[in-house]
Amino acid sequence: MNCSKTLTDGAQVSLATILKNCRLIFISLFSICLLVSCSDRAEISTTVEEESRWYTPAQLLSGTEVFAANCAQCHGDTAQGLADDWREKLEDGTFPPPPLDGTAHAWHHPQSVLLQVIDNGGAEFGGTMPAFATTLSQNEKLSAIAYFQSFWNDDIYTQWTKMGGVN
Ligand code: HEC
Repeated sequence: MNCSKTLTDGAQVSLATILKNCRLIFISLFSICLLVSCSDRAEISTTVEEESRWYTPAQLLSGTEVFAANCAQCHGDTAQGLADDWREKLEDGTFPPPPLDGTAHAWHHPQSVLLQVIDNGGAEFGGTMPAFATTLSQNEKLSAIAYFQSFWNDDIYTQWTKMGGVN
């Protein structure tokens, strides 16, 4: 009788140990899952941060009009450029208007430099781009930038942010 009681006790103890171990294993697995899903979420939020743009939908909308009225005749409706090769000089020795859609090199310039180009045009270095300092407001110039940047893919946009971006 005693013997069998001990046996039962022993069985109960080992069952309790197994249960305790199971709980431990379960807790560790749960923590690992939690960690993995947290780090997943961290990755996603960094990507979204990198891809999010500085301009608002309203700026983009107004930029569509500003660009169509002031820039598209030279740079193309979708900022794609109109020359066969924007790197090749024209007969008069000047450069054609380059694409601004991310396929040329506008993305090498931070926003302050893009604004300077739009303000001063190309005259000071022998170019033919007109100056917009007095004809467009600061908001209109920024909107025009938002418009052509909307054609930049995320890779180009990220490169731009690394080379100065909105500075
Ligand atoms: C009459 C044609 C013309 C118009 C209109 C024009 N551009 Fe340009 N743009 C040029 C040319 C040509 C260049 C190359 C520099 C030069 O020769 O002046 C240029 C260069 C640029 C650059 C520098 C690109 C780079 O790769 O560094 C930006 C940015 C730009 N233009 C934006 C605009 C915006 C925004 C507008 C409208 C507000 C506009 N341009 C209107 C002709 C024009």
